[in-house]
Amino acid sequence: FWGLKTQWLGKNMTHKKVMDSTQSAAHQEALHGAPNGTVVIADEQTWGKGRMDRQWHSASHQGIWMSVILRPGIPPVHAPQLTLMTAAAIADVLASYTDAEPSIKWPNDILINHKKAAGILTEMQAEEDRVQYVVIGIGVNVNHTQGDFPAELNEKATSIKRETGDHYQVKGLIQHMLLRLEQLYDTFMQSGFQPIRAKWESYGYRLGETIRIRTARNVWTAVFSGIADDGALLAQMDDNEPKKIYSGEMEWFPD
Ligand code: BTN
Repeated sequence: FWGLKTQWLGKNMTHKKVMDSTQSAAHQEALHGAPNGTVVIADEQTWGKGRMDRQWHSASHQGIWMSVILRPGIPPVHAPQLTLMTAAAIADVLASYTDAEPSIKWPNDILINHKKAAGILTEMQAEEDRVQYVVIGIGVNVNHTQGDFPAELNEKATSIKRETGDHYQVKGLIQHMLLRLEQLYDTFMQSGFQPIRAKWESYGYRLGETIRIRTARNVWTAVFSGIADDGALLAQMDDNEPKKIYSGEMEWFPD
C-alpha cells in the first residue's frame, strides 16, 4: 500500500484514518517493544501535540502527521542531533520534490518564505547513559489553504500549497520522507554528526547573519555562525570563541 523503497524504516507501520496523536500512539508501541524504525501515521489527529504544550492543527489529509521510533543506543546528550537530522531530511524532501524553498530555523522549524511549514517534536526515553528510544514526531503542512489556518496563525504558519500554489500527494511525500530519513540515519550511525551538521547548515535560516536570540535570562545579539556537535546554536559576539546557546527563540529581525 505504501510502496516504500526503504530497507528498514517503516517496515513496521501503523496507519489509521483518525488518531488522537501519533506521538502518544508511538510511545505506547515503543513501551511494548516496537522495533527500531517503527512508523505511526494518521490522516487526521484530533489531539496533535506541538512543542511547549501547544496544539498542532492536523486536519484530515492536509499534511503529514507521523511519528517515528528510533533506537540508536546513543548517549542522551546526543539525542538533539536526531532532531536536527530530521529537520534536514524534511528540508531535503521539500527542496527536491516540491517547488518550495525551505530553510530551517534553529533548532528545528522548517520555514517557507519565513513562515513555519513543518515542526518536529522529539521525546526520548533514556536509561542510565543510553537512549532507550526516541519518538520523533513530524508534522508537515501540505495542502492547507489560507483560510484553513486560525487567524492568529495566519502570518506565522503556512503550507506547501499556500507557498507554491500546488497540491501535493501526502502519501508520495511520506514515501520520500521516510527514504531520506533512513539514508540520513544510516549516515549518522556510520559517520557521526558531521555530515548531518553540514546538511543542516546548508538550510540554516539566517546563518551567517546578525540575529537576536532570546533565552530564559537574556536577549543576545550576535552573528549566527553555525551549530555545534551537541546541537547548540553558535553565537559569535566578539573575537572569542562563539557562545553556545542551548535553548531559546531566534527572533525575526535584529533591527
Ligand atoms: C512543533 O511544535 O513544532 C512540533 C509539531 C509536531 C507535530 C507532529 S504531527 C505528528 C506528531 N504527533 C503529534 O501529536 N505531534 C507530532
